[in-house]
Amino acid sequence: MTVGTTCPNARAVPTAAGPVSITVRAALVAARSRLATAVTTSPDPEAAELLATVLGVERSRLGLEQSRELSAKQARKLESMLERRAAGEPLQYITGKAGFRGLDVEVGAGALVPRPETEVVAGRAIEFLNRMGRKALAVDIGTGSGCIALALAREVADCEVWATEISVQACGWAERNLAGQPRVHLAAGDLYEPLPAELRGAVDVVVANPPYFSADQLASLPVDVREHEPFVALVSPGGGMALALRVIEGAAIWLRPGGLLVVEMAEGQGPVLVEALRRNGFAAARTGRDLAGRDRFVEGVLRRE
Ligand SMILES: C[S@@+](CC[C@H](N)C(=O)[O-])C[C@H]1O[C@@H](n2cnc3c(N)ncnc32)[C@H](O)[C@@H]1O
Repeated sequence: MTVGTTCPNARAVPTAAGPVSITVRAALVAARSRLATAVTTSPDPEAAELLATVLGVERSRLGLEQSRELSAKQARKLESMLERRAAGEPLQYITGKAGFRGLDVEVGAGALVPRPETEVVAGRAIEFLNRMGRKALAVDIGTGSGCIALALAREVADCEVWATEISVQACGWAERNLAGQPRVHLAAGDLYEPLPAELRGAVDVVVANPPYFSADQLASLPVDVREHEPFVALVSPGGGMALALRVIEGAAIWLRPGGLLVVEMAEGQGPVLVEALRRNGFAAARTGRDLAGRDRFVEGVLRRE
């Protein structure tokens, strides 16, 4: 039996009537229809992602599973996931994972979902560290899920990483994602404050993706972001720039001369942050773009005195 293949608000499983069977093909059509009326602009991949999660298979395998029937338990799980997504919860909180530079990162309430633009920011740090061609030391400020620290540890041979984070909830997610990474150290606290003093003047790269929206901008963010992702990960005082400025002002203490600072930002913040880099002893201060061509980060190299 197939259920709700054309009705936009079709439920995958009518529970009042008892358990029904539904094929993967039909469930996919029903899930797409359901999501098309909800918060997402990409119902097709999201429906496939949820179904793949329910079945415990890779999304690319769904095509081979079209005639398979969902068990009642799987159908109920899909229904519950669709309800959560329709209520605005981020897809990645529901599936429990997000992709970041080819890695699966565990996420959920309390940790920002890693974004594709941050892959570019992490990529700048990785490129710089790999060009050094020797043992490296990096710091990731505001690590959230731990995605940047994890990418540095995985993509740079012999790189020790210190990751700081102020939110207890986010620390929990970072701990999970960084477990089994002996060269990554997670330190709870405000910006640089939890770093050990012996790192002063020795760090090759400081990378940060601080919160960068102003409180006024929050209302214009999509509902799944503003109502579900952590406020502390999104909003900064000072028109969205106070945290980034504190990161820039503190970096010279920790970096070695010639070391790199990379800070993610919102479009339009470049001039203020580049000026702050120059004022705080950085040469080659510039903005860099994300894959969509938007100014997305600032970087600078600490001057050698
Ligand atoms: C935009 S999120 C970035 C998370 C992660 N690095 C990423 O790129 O997905 C900013 C992170 O900084 C953390 N944060 C905010 N204020 C902080 C502070 N004063 N010290 C350390 N971490 C802070 C937030 O809790 C959040 O996890």
